[in-house]
Amino acid sequence: PEDIRVYEFAEACGKTPAEVITVLFHLGMMVTKNDFLKQDELEILGEEFGIEVTVKDALEDVNYEETYDEEIDKSSFVTRPPVVTIMGHVDHGKTSLLDRIRSSKVASGEAGGITQHINSYTITKNGQKITFVDTPGHEAFSAMRTRGANVTDIIIIVVAADDGVKAQTEEVISHAKASGCPIIVAMNKMDKESANPDMVKAQMAERNLTPVDWGGDIEFIGVSARTGDGVDELLENILIQAELLELQADPTAKAKATVIEASLEKGRGPVANIIVQNGTLRVGDNIVCDTTFGRVKAITNDMGEIVKELGLSETGTVLGLNEVPTTGSSLVAMDSEKEVRDIATTRAEHARAKELSKSTKVSLEEMSGLI
Ligand code: GTP
Ligand code: MG
Repeated sequence: PEDIRVYEFAEACGKTPAEVITVLFHLGMMVTKNDFLKQDELEILGEEFGIEVTVKDALEDVNYEETYDEEIDKSSFVTRPPVVTIMGHVDHGKTSLLDRIRSSKVASGEAGGITQHINSYTITKNGQKITFVDTPGHEAFSAMRTRGANVTDIIIIVVAADDGVKAQTEEVISHAKASGCPIIVAMNKMDKESANPDMVKAQMAERNLTPVDWGGDIEFIGVSARTGDGVDELLENILIQAELLELQADPTAKAKATVIEASLEKGRGPVANIIVQNGTLRVGDNIVCDTTFGRVKAITNDMGEIVKELGLSETGTVLGLNEVPTTGSSLVAMDSEKEVRDIATTRAEHARAKELSKSTKVSLEEMSGLI
């Protein structure tokens, strides 16, 4: 969207020019309907209207699959690993299942056995990588489930086979459907005597997730995090789904990643847990992430080991931002320190202007003179 006029932009996103002008006016930017929108104005409008505006030049914030099909040189594209989010009702065994996949012991170390953060791990199966995102099932963590659904290529809905569909299973089903991602159902706790996979299938089928063996298109896989049964089959299914998706990205590009968690850690400063969406992130890269910026000081992988870089779809923790970024925001690497500083500063100014504008009230009648 270079050279787009106010009225064209309005039309493109189903708004009136007055709505567009009003938003900018509140932020102290005066435009009329024939003016060309500047990049920062486009960014603000995107945020305000909750739509994705792709700003080409300054951010290289590119959605390769859709937006730039024509213009991108795909010669350096390679297949990238899938990002798989595990969702389901509290205590249905999401973390245990991931532990089994990684052969570690996270679930038993969690406070009250309840996941309270989004955790992510990259594993290798048959020489192929898969990144997993573990989300909390407790009802209090709805926002995290939504976030999980946003970074993912494939969603695994875990349903305990002895317990069936519960409140957060329902919620997860609607996230999964809304995301448009392929869904795999893992019926967990199959080792239990009371396990009833047909009940799970029937409940899910009622919600339009019909098993393949019932003539539908959703894979249901019986697993046990406890014994490990079915886990290989689940992983193989993930890899098949991933192949069908033909996930591609460019490892030679400047990194673009999504922040899935961020916090201030004693002695380390702001840390961001990220998943790389495109390119390769390296120590020393200049990065900007919403209103924060910096230079990558260190990267650790999901085992806490120091690594030099994170490749396509890989997850890890990044040190070096000057402040804690918002979860869900994009972290982008750029050529120079000046670029990342400028963008972060501009965004911070917008954020401040937006805060201020909340107290300003201008009616559309007052605005009409400007249109
Ligand atoms: P939240 O993160 O709080 O939503 O829970 P979760 O879905 O991650 O469940 P978690 O892995 O913490 O497991 C909950 C309980 O179920 C624990 O006591 C596990 O030991 C038990 N459990 C998990 N998987 C299995 C299984 O396959 N068989 C049996 N018998 N128990 C299991
Ligand atoms: Mg858990």
